Amino acid sequence: MRMVDLIQKKRNGESLTEEEIKFIIKGYTEGEIPDYQMSAWAMAVYFQGMSKEETAELTMAMVRSGDQIDLSPINGIKVDKHSTGGVGDTTTIVLAPLVASCGVPVAKMSGRGLGHTGGTIDKLESFKGFSVEIEKETFVDMVNEHKVAVVGQSGNLTPADKMLYALRDVTATVDIIPLIASSIMSKKIAAGADAIVLDVKTGSGAFMKSVDEAQDLARAMVSIGKEIGRETTAIISDMSQPLGKAVGNALEIKEAIDTLQGKGPRDLEELCLTLGSHMLTLAGKADSIEAAREQLVETMQNGQALDTLANMVEAQGGYKEQVYDPDQLPQASDVVEVTAPADGYIEQIDAEEIGRAASKLGAGRETKESKIDLAVGVMLQKKVGEQVKKGDVLVSLHYNQESHVKEATDQILQAYRIADSEQKEPSLIYDVIK
Ligand code: URA
Ligand code: CA
Repeated sequence: MRMVDLIQKKRNGESLTEEEIKFIIKGYTEGEIPDYQMSAWAMAVYFQGMSKEETAELTMAMVRSGDQIDLSPINGIKVDKHSTGGVGDTTTIVLAPLVASCGVPVAKMSGRGLGHTGGTIDKLESFKGFSVEIEKETFVDMVNEHKVAVVGQSGNLTPADKMLYALRDVTATVDIIPLIASSIMSKKIAAGADAIVLDVKTGSGAFMKSVDEAQDLARAMVSIGKEIGRETTAIISDMSQPLGKAVGNALEIKEAIDTLQGKGPRDLEELCLTLGSHMLTLAGKADSIEAAREQLVETMQNGQALDTLANMVEAQGGYKEQVYDPDQLPQASDVVEVTAPADGYIEQIDAEEIGRAASKLGAGRETKESKIDLAVGVMLQKKVGEQVKKGDVLVSLHYNQESHVKEATDQILQAYRIADSEQKEPSLIYDVIK
């Protein structure tokens, strides 16, 4: 087999066989196929697409390129959740203990944040002493004992995806659905998921700007799941404004704690209940979405969900009193309010711009090496559809360094668009694809 022939075959619009896809991924990972040929192949895929079968083969070839986490020593069906990324997306920190408190084991590997999006692992480090670097055996034991652990990624998972993603990033071949779908699904499968719930975001703050695009990506991922025998459900949810009110590490932890007690922002709670009920159903813990939802609400009300978070924090070396008394979490030294420049109705809140403002205050990393300030961030006081009068507080900025406040304030005012006429609150859940 020669790579040049496979590039040509794809360029001409033909489908590649399982053997051919394995040859490409193995060859590329082992350094036998050079970047220039791989780039040409990615561009051919960009213009010609890939069939369902090819996309599933590509996913599995990337899974086999590195380590695979074996979660079989954990009892029960392990359901993983993945979000395509957003701003202020606190769902994992709510969902992991929430779903675990209903008896579904959650063995979750999460990432750190870069740029305008935050990372779950960074947020959890707001708990004093919380450790995210956990040995594989300890990880499995923790999940068997407490039903939940959220750790950083360990091992060499999907190196082919890492290499290919880096190449796509610099060859204008990122935004093509079969490559995105296989990239995301390969990481979930290598991390050991039996079943997968996907939260595909759409809107200004998301990768997929329109509902149509998000549906196409969701269908491609659900189809991969079907081809390879891992049940997958995708929710299409709104990211046309940040989720919840808090954007920033400790602020989002506090928001997650509120939500676990049924006292969180309505949109965050609704999304968590939706994703959570699909996780419970896939895990065989409920016969219907409605029954699953009732179980989740009950654990919020009777305190079990919060206790599960506290147990998880303690098991991972953290200070669990902070769960019951969030005022002990890192707090910024100052708060300043950004107010509405005019009367009207909130028409839009650019999530990316809000994320950048939080990052500017120190909540995010500008480069991989930057150190983040856990205490700082943005609290949204008004969301899309709400009426405001000139001078009403739009946002509170929690900060430690005065020098960043001016720029962050400008970014907030950029992000908010105020209209004269009444504005509809956007839908939160657009579709469920199974
Ligand atoms: N996120 C991923 O993990 N992979 C892609 O290809 C795009 C977004
Ligand atoms: Ca939030």
